[in-house]
Amino acid sequence: MHRKDPSSSAPAFAPGSVSFTGAGPGDPDLLTRQALRALAQADVVLHDSLISPEILAEAGPDARLIETGKRGFAPSMAQAEINAQIVAHARTGARVVRLKSGDATIFGRLDEEIEACDAARIPWRILPGITAASAAVASIGQSLTRRGRNASVRLLTGHDMAGFADHDWTTLARPGEVAAIYMGKASARFVQGRLLMHGAERATPVTLVENASRPDQRILATTLDRLPVELSAAGLDGPVLTLYGLAPRAAARVLPGLATQQKEFA
Ligand SMILES: C[S@@+](CC[C@H](N)C(=O)[O-])C[C@H]1O[C@@H](n2cnc3c(N)ncnc32)[C@H](O)[C@@H]1O
Repeated sequence: MHRKDPSSSAPAFAPGSVSFTGAGPGDPDLLTRQALRALAQADVVLHDSLISPEILAEAGPDARLIETGKRGFAPSMAQAEINAQIVAHARTGARVVRLKSGDATIFGRLDEEIEACDAARIPWRILPGITAASAAVASIGQSLTRRGRNASVRLLTGHDMAGFADHDWTTLARPGEVAAIYMGKASARFVQGRLLMHGAERATPVTLVENASRPDQRILATTLDRLPVELSAAGLDGPVLTLYGLAPRAAARVLPGLATQQKEFA
């Protein structure tokens, strides 16, 4: 694939190669040093629409920035076109950063883009990032797993290519289960219906974190029973991570620095 970068565990960023890079949840301080270095070295940055301007500003002044879109169901560059652009730019000898929100390996269509690179014999590497679930759970002072409560956690998508995504509702409906639901706004009523149908408690806590780690972060603490009603009343229009099975820990509300960032509903 690549030769090794002597100053890092990541392979070197060679000309004519692609760096699939996780941009984290939005706060530029949550970028990794590997991501910062890749952005500084990039000739071309193909980025999702969720990437904040402060992070794009880390690219060098001569880097070409290309937005690929991908905001929920809204129109965006077709995946085949994104694949073609990645390959075409790398073929010119450019160092291409494919910048994805959070961690590139989670709900990021990464495999399709890697397969396009492999088919074109273009070298690539993956630089991990902090996923939205990690930022969201930190903002409410909770942990995703807890001894005696849940020994596993699920990362779910609310919808997939076929529409609302199906999951193992029977297991999820058990007490103590925790799930981080990505792209879950439009499917909230569907998810609620499935979980209740499979015996979940109506009082199960659900916390929605909009714009996790960003200055406009908002937290909506509710229950499975009230999820769709409170979600539509809150009018959250940014990216939302739904934490099923978790309520904000009381102390999280008074943590210095966090309190000013959190506008809570409910
Ligand atoms: C296409 S997925 C990409 C996930 C990303 N690869 C990650 O690891 O976070 C987009 C979804 O991630 C979630 N998301 C991304 N950034 C977020 C943020 N800062 N706050 C809350 N949710 C976020 C939302 O559910 C959004 O609809």
